[in-house]
Amino acid sequence: MKVSDVQFFKSVYKLSALPKGPQPEIAFSGRSNVGKSSLINTLVNRRGIAKTSSTPGRTQSINFIDVNRAFYFVDLPGYGYARVPDAVKQEWQVLIEGYLEQRENLKLVILIIDSRRHPMEDERLFSEWLKLKGVPFAVVLTKIDKLKQAKRNRAYRAWQKFLGIDQVLPFSALNGEGKSNVWRIIDHHLNAT
Ligand code: GTP
Ligand code: MG
Repeated sequence: MKVSDVQFFKSVYKLSALPKGPQPEIAFSGRSNVGKSSLINTLVNRRGIAKTSSTPGRTQSINFIDVNRAFYFVDLPGYGYARVPDAVKQEWQVLIEGYLEQRENLKLVILIIDSRRHPMEDERLFSEWLKLKGVPFAVVLTKIDKLKQAKRNRAYRAWQKFLGIDQVLPFSALNGEGKSNVWRIIDHHLNAT
């Protein structure tokens, strides 16, 4: 994919404010601090187009980034904050689940996981939920630059087995490793009817 035009489009705080029109969407989801914004910024070659590290505990937005005036990258609020009050968590849940469940424009969810972490229940629950709802998703293991080869292979196998999937995509925002493979998956889902 040749990225010629990238613009921050809008932040959405409620489902009724989602963009109208047919532009397909690729959503990015993952725990806080996993490297979500860094992945988006690397894919579109822009530092800081995806907002970085907003304060946990505040109501968070779904952020739309217009790419090539052809599709949106959608930066979903991070989940798995231990510190936020239940009421805030619930607000996100309504927003994120509503979006994922109902959005016809949504072509693919990229589930981002820190490659150094051992498999934990959160990601399995989320991936099972996506399977249940029939939402296509791909798993990206970020910060792969921090792992040596043997540990990488162990991480791939562990996550594949744990999530019951055939493929995980290694990625590094530090050196760009894996970028073209992530784009390939995105292209594939944008072009699928
Ligand atoms: P929130 O929006 O706060 O949930 O975080 P995020 O998931 O958007 O993560 P962000 O991209 O802000 O990155 C978090 C931290 O991890 C930053 O300090 C990044 O520099 C670092 N980071 C992100 N990706 C990589 C990577 O591939 N390799 C390395 N070494 N560091 C990374
Ligand atoms: Mg971020």
